[in-house]
Amino acid sequence: MAQEETRLVRGSVALAALVFLGLLWLLYGFKGLKVDFDVTGLPSLNAGLNAASATCLGLGYWSIRTGHRRRHAAFMVTAMGFSALFLASYLLYHAVHGDTPFAGQGTIRGLYFTILITHIIASAVALPLVFIVVLHAALRRFAVHRRYARYAFPVWMYVSVTGVMIYALLRSAGS
Ligand code: HEM
Repeated sequence: MAQEETRLVRGSVALAALVFLGLLWLLYGFKGLKVDFDVTGLPSLNAGLNAASATCLGLGYWSIRTGHRRRHAAFMVTAMGFSALFLASYLLYHAVHGDTPFAGQGTIRGLYFTILITHIIASAVALPLVFIVVLHAALRRFAVHRRYARYAFPVWMYVSVTGVMIYALLRSAGS
């Protein structure tokens, strides 16, 4: 059992590292992509997807705390769907539009970069944790699921909420 857990954890970390490298490659390898539709609405959509993911995470957590296991699983899987859609849409926008420089100055600039950097670090930490948690749930190893889920939940929530904050800060600074 402990050996199996170690294998699953190592496998999840390796898979997350591969996905992360793949994302970096997509992010920097597809600059200047041409598409024949307007992508200017994507940042708002992306913020909406992050907000939807955070809402499902909150509802999923509340569901398990009130003993609704099936509802918990449904909300968590939906949250994963919203986060995956966000990632696809974010990559597309970035490939077409490129980087969005932050226009704000002073305190707001410091706040923006603090949130942005912690958001990126937390997303790298969330990825393997989510894999570990979902795999253990799928294998019905709920004691282990619960142990890792206690870290996965707040880290993933932080990523989703700060995703919305980054959008709001960019907009408020006129970027
Ligand atoms: C990545 C997605 C998920 C996250 C972040 C997550 C998060 C959590 C958290 C934080 C707890 C512990 C709650 C507490 O402190 O009492 C928990 C428990 C639980 N989760 Fe999940 N969960 C996820 C996906 C799933 C899925 C897909 C299933 C079902 C197949 C599931 C089934 C359960 C069950 C049965 C428990 C209760 C375990 C026990 O009583 O020891 N979870 N989950």
